[in-house]
Amino acid sequence: MKDQIVRTEGLKKYYRLGENIVKALDGVDFSVEEREFVAIIGRSGSGKSTLLHMIGGLDVPTSGEVYVDGKRLSEMNREQLAIFRRRKVGFIFQNYNLVPDLSVYDNVVLPVELDGKRVDRHFVREILELLHLEEKQDALPGMLSGGQQQRAAIARAVASKPSIILADVK
Ligand SMILES: Nc1ncnc2c1ncn2[C@@H]1O[C@H](COP(=O)(O)OP(=O)(O)OP(=O)(O)O)[C@@H](O)[C@H]1O
Ligand SMILES: [Mg+2]
Repeated sequence: MKDQIVRTEGLKKYYRLGENIVKALDGVDFSVEEREFVAIIGRSGSGKSTLLHMIGGLDVPTSGEVYVDGKRLSEMNREQLAIFRRRKVGFIFQNYNLVPDLSVYDNVVLPVELDGKRVDRHFVREILELLHLEEKQDALPGMLSGGQQQRAAIARAVASKPSIILADVK
């Protein structure tokens, strides 16, 4: 067996919605090997975003465990989890979540800067070129098309050279 970069065990996420309980995840056992590319397909509301949020440490499961790179997320305190998200996870949000007041370039390098790391400008330029965003790097997200915003979100997720990329894409 190759090294598993992501593993979940009996992962459950229940949301309370007024009187009702929504079982968004109800016992998910799932793993991804290093360098593996996995696509999760399911109808709207089937729990895809919820699963990615749990793996990326953006939200806490009702029960069950998530391991990323051998580390159990439930063992981490808030600060450790924040560092985990910044260094290990590149997250492409379903609604992109770009910071509206920052240029594309500043959005892309923000996670690296928040981590107190030196920005690898060559690497960032390479990413922006690959994603055909070099001419938009000074633009605000609101000036971009939907596809350009999505590519800016991809550039941001890749810029910090994370261990895993979680792409909640449409
Ligand atoms: N914060 C929340 N509070 C209550 N219910 C929620 C919350 N977030 C998600 N849900 C519910 O959990 C279920 C799974 O939602 P989720 O967003 O994970 O689905 P999805 O597969 O990503 O759907 P889509 O393809 O439309 O993006 C849905 O029934 C949704 O209404
Ligand atoms: Mg979703």
